[in-house]
Amino acid sequence: MSGKSSAQLAESASVSALNCIDLSSPDIQSSVSLLKQACLDTGFFYVINHGIGIEFMDEVFLQSKRFFDLPMEEKMKLLRNEKHRGYTPVFDEHLDPVNQIHGDYKEGYYIGIELSEDDPDAQKPFYGPNLWPRADILPAWRETMEKYHQKALEVAKTVSRLIAQALDLKFDFFDQSEMLGKPIAVLRLLHYADEVSEPAKGIFGAGAHSDFGLITLLATDDVVGLQICRDKDANPQIWEYVPPLKGAFIVNLGDMLERWSNCTFRSTLHRVVCTGRERYSIAYFVEPNHDCIVECLPTCQSQKNPPMFPPIKCQDYLQMRYKDTHNDLNSYRVSK
Ligand code: OGA
Ligand code: NI
Repeated sequence: MSGKSSAQLAESASVSALNCIDLSSPDIQSSVSLLKQACLDTGFFYVINHGIGIEFMDEVFLQSKRFFDLPMEEKMKLLRNEKHRGYTPVFDEHLDPVNQIHGDYKEGYYIGIELSEDDPDAQKPFYGPNLWPRADILPAWRETMEKYHQKALEVAKTVSRLIAQALDLKFDFFDQSEMLGKPIAVLRLLHYADEVSEPAKGIFGAGAHSDFGLITLLATDDVVGLQICRDKDANPQIWEYVPPLKGAFIVNLGDMLERWSNCTFRSTLHRVVCTGRERYSIAYFVEPNHDCIVECLPTCQSQKNPPMFPPIKCQDYLQMRYKDTHNDLNSYRVSK
């Protein structure tokens, strides 16, 4: 499956050839089996013909760049709040403290499901009003991001239907009102500076991690950087680059799906190794409803293969994972 690294790449990692799922294909059975193979193998695949046009995607990247180009003072006015909305400066996230000397060399911007302050659900973690840059500074920014948020959720629902079938569940198992009907879905704009990562010294664009939720839809520009490790227990770990594919999403499975499926489907370790070129990516993290209980699926257990994880409530699990990986907000208050 893997070819040799190209001269463009920073170190001698090979290049992964991921399966490519065409969401416009009428042959659902073939799509399900291709997806299943990818989920059993790397937990990563491309999704193409997903219904979000390249022009609109380019527009989202352009608006993202406009935000990150703002002076630091403007960006810090929108610093992340306790609902995980807004700007995250370089080093705010620290994904792999064992192997990193400091936090990730990336800045980001979190956008969740928009709810007004007086909506009863706005009391819940991860829900409430978003932080938005002022319209006179970044006109049309909010509209672009809200539109992308909605469109990406539709893509996620379509992919979730294939995943359900690959797990021998009813096609709408994940796409039901208690799960993706009112999801915790978080759009995150990311910007990696033109630094060179140095894995041997513990310096990374993003440290090794697996994502927390059901799935992640990742859009990237054409700069390489994302690497995956198929076997996290191997010593030494072997890393492969996932090349960008114009117009496609790179989809990966999150830890909730690993728990649901009792490790039948794995959430694969990945990281970002920067090559000295600036890089932009846009992640869309798809998690079910707050109250959803993530517990071993009936199709993924037997007497010989009992559940490996206790049931967890989505919001509790997510809160724990966010707390473990992000700076304490008080640290910013002290430095003011
Ligand atoms: C993430 C992630 C990869 C990238 O944000 O969880 O893995 O290419 N991002 O930015
Ligand atoms: Ni990730």
